[in-house]
Amino acid sequence: MHLKRKFLVPLSLLAAISISVAATLPQQEREPPKLVNLKVFPKNIPYRVLDHTMDEWSASLGVRCNFCHARNDATGKMDFPSDAKPEKTAARHMYLMMSKINKKYFDAKKDSLGMVITAGVNCYTCHRGDSHPEVKVPEEHHGPGGPPPGGMPPGGAPPAGGKG
Ligand code: HEC
Ligand code: HEC
Repeated sequence: MHLKRKFLVPLSLLAAISISVAATLPQQEREPPKLVNLKVFPKNIPYRVLDHTMDEWSASLGVRCNFCHARNDATGKMDFPSDAKPEKTAARHMYLMMSKINKKYFDAKKDSLGMVITAGVNCYTCHRGDSHPEVKVPEEHHGPGGPPPGGMPPGGAPPAGGKG
């Protein structure tokens, strides 16, 4: 029981502190920011779910928030609703692609918010911590008959009219 007591004390202390901190914060600071420019997430997504998703995306691509989000030059602060960066648009497309793959090919269900559960693939499946995964076929696997089905031939598109 030694272990248990060791944990109980700091936990209750922490709870007491966070309650008193919350009580002293003005209402405005406690409310999560309003989400104003959602085009692919459900409009009623709770802030903590969005926040968690953003952390996951950043980690999957090995980037920080400013890879997709622009900074407001005047205020010097991040402008999360802004669509100024093309990477943000790319990420929306990626999210839609991922949802479609999971729904169509992995029979993934939707959660209570209407978001497709990432059953089969997620951002990390392809990105592995790389914001721009290279699209290529490993050289050593090009057999005498050319690249494997679905692979890109070396040097780009096959010649027009060729047998492929
Ligand atoms: C890979 C790109 C990407 C990264 C990295 C990213 N975001 Fe986002 N973020 C998006 C996209 C896309 C949306 C819009 C989703 C939609 O249209 O439904 C968004 C929306 C948001 C919003 C809602 C803005 C609004 O009010 O409309 C917030 C807040 C946000 N992101 C915060 C963050 C934070 C904090 C980080 C870093 C931890 C982060 N994002 C990292 C792509 C990204
Ligand atoms: C099926 C594989 C796959 C999945 C899943 C995937 N991506 Fe990608 N993503 C790619 C590839 C491949 C590229 C590079 C495309 C190119 O070369 O133009 C890319 C490019 C991007 C880019 C543009 C990067 C740049 O350099 O401009 C962003 C942003 C991005 N992905 C975000 C995401 C996010 C966020 C998710 C999860 C919601 C995701 N991706 C899921 C394969 C994937």
